[in-house]
Amino acid sequence: MTNSEARRRYAEVFHDLEVLIQDHIEMASAGTPQLSRLCQLVPSVGVFFTKLPLEKAYYIEDERRSISKRRLVAPSFNDIRLILNTAQILQLATNFHSARHQHEKLQLVTFDGDITLYDDGTNLDPDSPLLPYLLQLLEKGLYIGIVTAAGYKEPEKYYGRLAGLIDGIKTSTELTDAQRENLLVMGGEANYLYRYQNDAGMLVTVPRDQWVLDTMNGWDEDDIKSVLDYAESGLNNYIEKLSVQAIVIRKERGVGIVAKPGHKLIREQLEELVLRIDRNLRQYPPAQKINWCAFNGGSDVWVDIGDKSLGVRALQQFLRVNDGKDIKAASTLHVGDQFSSIGANDYASRTAATTAWISSPMETKNLLVDLNNYLENTANY
Ligand code: IMP
Ligand code: MG
Repeated sequence: MTNSEARRRYAEVFHDLEVLIQDHIEMASAGTPQLSRLCQLVPSVGVFFTKLPLEKAYYIEDERRSISKRRLVAPSFNDIRLILNTAQILQLATNFHSARHQHEKLQLVTFDGDITLYDDGTNLDPDSPLLPYLLQLLEKGLYIGIVTAAGYKEPEKYYGRLAGLIDGIKTSTELTDAQRENLLVMGGEANYLYRYQNDAGMLVTVPRDQWVLDTMNGWDEDDIKSVLDYAESGLNNYIEKLSVQAIVIRKERGVGIVAKPGHKLIREQLEELVLRIDRNLRQYPPAQKINWCAFNGGSDVWVDIGDKSLGVRALQQFLRVNDGKDIKAASTLHVGDQFSSIGANDYASRTAATTAWISSPMETKNLLVDLNNYLENTANY
């Protein structure tokens, strides 16, 4: 096969996929997603909140990644992941320019913290290469939500993690005061909400009754405590059984294990722990009455009350009630690194937002460059 032949054939595959997704969206809006051809081929397929211009995205990524020019390395998981991301932001930009209703236009971009905005366990510093592009989103009037598992009851702790962004917003000469207040932080998956406030010049706590979802309000505190107790004793038990050098940390709305000082947990140990705790919690009756999330954070394992689907929904609801915005899944993009179906905490966001799956802060930066570019200029793509 020549290069151009390979390029054409791959493009045809992406074109066919694009049509399958389009058909699935139409079937879903007619109330019969199970009848779509895509659903018959992939019964577990999820919801698509927008079309995906996969053929166009393929051409863009083919230029960058030499997909069709490669002879010995077939199109990979990463190639496909990046083509999907590009297709998603292309469509969000198209809708941004042409959609008729507010809820069809991108308004809220949410980001995971570790791995997505900064390396695991580090902070968003003033010299972060992502900073100018995050500020550019705010300059366009978009909201930024940091939806992170990191759960702290005090806004100062988030300043510690996000100082580069917060100071960047505070001192920007491009942002209006209203735009500055478009930074929100949802911590502990869906447990603590903070918003940047001009008067305070920093993040301030948004009272829980202003953003909490009805489903979360309906949870019984006894069930929450039982789930955390059960997870805590499970984690203690596995640490011993697997002879892992770790300690358990119990928080108000989460419980996790981290390595003892001077030790490091390997990926296989973390995976074993998260799979066990996830499996056991699924069968534990109080855990069936509330939402929770068990995930492998790369060097630790956590069970949190709530998940990022609730975190994103709570943000959407808060902005609807408080700011009068009509923000739905098609007007939200969540960017994260944890999209495996088990043991990964960004996965839940798929039901509340369109998504982009990145694997490093550098990939997030590249995505932000493209997104800003596409939002600024339809002719650029
Ligand atoms: P994310 O990638 O922004 O969702 O952050 C996940 C990381 O936050 C975990 O891997 C932990 O290292 C850290 N973390 C700190 N506090 C908590 C907590 O209460 N629950 C879960 N993760 C936490
Ligand atoms: Mg992460």
